[in-house]
Formats: sequence, structure tokens, C-alpha cells
Amino acid sequence: MEEQKEAQQFIYHLDENEHEIAMKTKDVQVFYGENEAMKKASLQFERYKITSLIGASGSGKSTFLRSLNRMNDNIPGAKVKGQIMYRGLDINKDDVDIYETRKHIGMVFQRPNPFSKSIYDNITFALKRHGLHDKEKLDEIVETTLKQASLWDQVKDDLNKSALALSGGQQQRLCIARAIAMKPDILLMDEPASALDPISTSNVEDTMLSLKDKYTIIIVTHNMQQAGRISDYTAFFHLGQVVEFNGTRKIFTRPKIKTTEEYVSGHFG
Ligand SMILES: Nc1ncnc2c1ncn2[C@@H]1O[C@H](COP(=O)(O)OP(=O)(O)OP(=O)(O)O)[C@@H](O)[C@H]1O
Ligand SMILES: [Mg+2]
Repeated sequence: MEEQKEAQQFIYHLDENEHEIAMKTKDVQVFYGENEAMKKASLQFERYKITSLIGASGSGKSTFLRSLNRMNDNIPGAKVKGQIMYRGLDINKDDVDIYETRKHIGMVFQRPNPFSKSIYDNITFALKRHGLHDKEKLDEIVETTLKQASLWDQVKDDLNKSALALSGGQQQRLCIARAIAMKPDILLMDEPASALDPISTSNVEDTMLSLKDKYTIIIVTHNMQQAGRISDYTAFFHLGQVVEFNGTRKIFTRPKIKTTEEYVSGHFG
């Protein structure tokens, strides 16, 4: 009980007046049927920063992340309550255009999931569906996004090769390129490097760091070293609750809450 009370103060740690906030949740709760998998979470995400969501398996990280671009709408029986404010709009309202929302708030999943198409077509597919057919423009977007995803040099002579012929790490960077081709504001990433070897992981981390000047990134990670290396802010999830939210260094070196301390020091349970 005491821990909860203390946690609430830190949830509101960031001062809205000092930082530009890209997105803010208020009392976001997620139910799967009767099961309240995410208890009221109020967090804010600073623009052009990386925020990590950490916590044990089943603590609600993916559940919360999916609510940020209405991905829980795809899960039968899932219900998201509370407010998710983005550019003055509560995108959790029923009448919000989900398709449009996901153009602004893109997502990269744990397992690289390129389409069974060429590298080029992976990036241009959604753009064409949105009516962009100018070959020159499409070429330019393919080049720019592959450069941003640190993949251009490796694939520039093979753009018509199947994406499935790329390595896992390259596929994941292609998925990042595909997500940023839609020019989102916010990129949600659910353990984007967990299926990758250390070198590919390091490449994906470098990619994320280089994307920071254009995108606000929210990433779920099990890897605490990774959270420490790349993120500005960290939120610690435990049993469906945000226990503590603060600057990453503070979470790792001076956590205020005992459960956080136990988790980040590896003495959990
Ligand atoms: N599609 C679903 N249907 C029903 N319950 C679900 C569903 N997805 C998740 N849950 C439940 O919600 C809780 C939180 O799960 P979630 O996947 O968000 O955890 P997580 O922190 O992402 O875990 P992990 O680190 O293992 O990915 C768990 O109890 C899980 O069983
Ligand atoms: Mg998860």
C-alpha cells in the first residue's frame, strides 16, 4: 500500500512545462475479459527521447504498449479504459480513426515480420496503398528510410531481393525502415532486439539512437543493459502496475521504490 502511494508521486515526476510531451496517458487500464492486466497507468513521453518499459514477464508491458496505438483493438475481449492524449486528442476514444492514428504512432514488433516481398516493396507497400505512386518520390523514401535504419549500405544493390533472404537483424532494421516510411511521430517497439544476436542488437540500438532526433521512441525491453544504454527515461512495471517512472540513470542507480531496486539489481522475488 505504502509503495503504491509513493509510486504515484513519481509517475508525475516530469514537469510538463519544462519538456515537450509527445504523448501522455491518464489512468490507462487494460482488461482481458474480467482480468485487469494493466492497472491505471499515467505516464508521459517526452518528445525526441527514448523511454524504456521494463519489468518481469507478464507485468503488462506489451499490454500497455499496444494500447498506445490501439493495437489492443485487434484482440477479442480486450478493453482499454482511460485517456491517451496525443496532440490534444484522446486517441482512446471510440470515434478516433485507428488507421490514421497508426500512421502517426508506428510499431515494430519483437519478431521481425517483413512481408514476403522485395526489400523495396516492403517499404513502399503502405505508401502506395495511401495513394503515393510517384516513382521518384518512392525511390527517395526507400533510400532515406533505409539510411535512417542503418541498412542502406548493405542492401542498396539488392533492393529487389526478397526481404526474407535478409538476416534477422537486417529484417528488423527493414521493419524499422518500413515503420518510419509512414513518417510517424512516435515509434513503439516491443523488444525489437530480443530475437537478435549481440552484433545485430548493437546495430539496432545504434539505429534507435540515431532516430532520436526525429522520433519519440517507446521501447519494451527485458535487457536492462540495453535500457541503460539507450533510454532517457525508464518505467518499471510490476504485476500490471507502473511502480516507478523516472530518468533512466535514477531508476538504475537510485530507485525510490524497493521493488524497483530488487528488479534492477537482479534480486527479484
Ligand atoms: N491476448 C491476451 N489475452 C488474454 N490475456 C492476455 C493477453 N495478452 C496478455 N495477457 C495477459 O496480460 C498480462 C500481461 O501480459 P503482457 O503480455 O502485457 O506482459 P509483458 O510484460 O509484455 O510480458 P513479457 O515480458 O513476457 O512479454 C499477463 O497476465 C497475460 O497473461
Ligand atoms: Mg511482452
